[in-house]
Parts: sequence; structure tokens; C-alpha cells
Amino acid sequence: MRLIIPLCIVTFSFSQEWFITNYEYGKMLYNNPRGISCAKCHGQKARGRVIAKYKIKKHGKIIEKTIKAPNIRHISYEKLKEKIFPKKKLLSIMPQYDYLTTNELQAIYLYIQSQKDKK
Ligand code: HEC
Repeated sequence: MRLIIPLCIVTFSFSQEWFITNYEYGKMLYNNPRGISCAKCHGQKARGRVIAKYKIKKHGKIIEKTIKAPNIRHISYEKLKEKIFPKKKLLSIMPQYDYLTTNELQAIYLYIQSQKDKK
């Protein structure tokens, strides 16, 4: 019996060290969703950004085109879910992340939401 008590204390303080908030978990996943970072395309603050620029020639004129990853700060959870777990797999620039769990998606959502008021 005497051994059990100190063991419990050790385990407890250990688990405290590993404790991270949902916000930190979401931020971590947003940056490293076991695939290309969301931040790479949508930006650290989920504000969206231009990911590529190219030129095309149309009727003898050169037209500049851009590919943008949209701002996703105001996206609803439903929309995010639809995008990450699509019913139909459509061809898209954005990679697929359908291996994410619902918990992970909720954490990402929490992080995106928290960026709303940031400059
Ligand atoms: C390679 C670049 C790239 C990466 C990485 C990426 N996205 Fe995207 N994302 C896009 C582009 C481009 C679009 C717009 C076209 C489309 O919907 O596919 C988009 C669209 C979206 C939309 C839909 C926005 C709307 O208004 O309908 C959501 C939500 C989204 N991304 C979330 C994420 C999340 C969360 C991650 C990380 C798990 C991520 N994206 C990673 C490029 C990217």
C-alpha cells in the first residue's frame, strides 16, 4: 500500500506536463495536420493569401492570374466539415484531409475561430 501513494503523485505531475489546451491543440493541428500545413495556404491567421501567380495569353494579351486560398476565419463549422469530409471527392487545389478525426477538426475550428479578431 505504501508504494501506491508516491506513484500516484508522480503520474499526476507527469500528466500535468503534457496538458495542452484545446486552443494549443487546434493551433498545432492547423500547422501540422499530418499533411501540408493549413497555414501554408490559408496563412497563420487563417486570413487567406495568394498561393500562386501565373500569366496567360489571351487574344494576344498577357493576363495575370492568381490562385488564392480563401479567408476561412468566418467559416461555419458545417462548412469546414463539408470541406474536410466531402461527400463527393472533387478535384481541388486543396489537399484532402479526410483522415482527420472529428475531435481534430473541432480543435482546428476552435483555432480558426479564435483568429477572427486578430489583425
Ligand atoms: C495547398 C494549399 C491549401 C492547403 C494546404 C489547405 N487549403 Fe484549404 N483551400 C485551398 C484553396 C485553393 C481553397 C479554395 C478552393 C477550394 O475550395 O478548393 C481552399 C478552401 C478551403 C475551405 C473552404 C472555404 C470556403 O469559403 O468555402 C476551407 C474551410 C479550408 N480550405 C480549410 C482548410 C484547412 C482546415 C486546411 C488544413 C487542414 C486547409 N484548408 C489546407 C488551399 C489549401
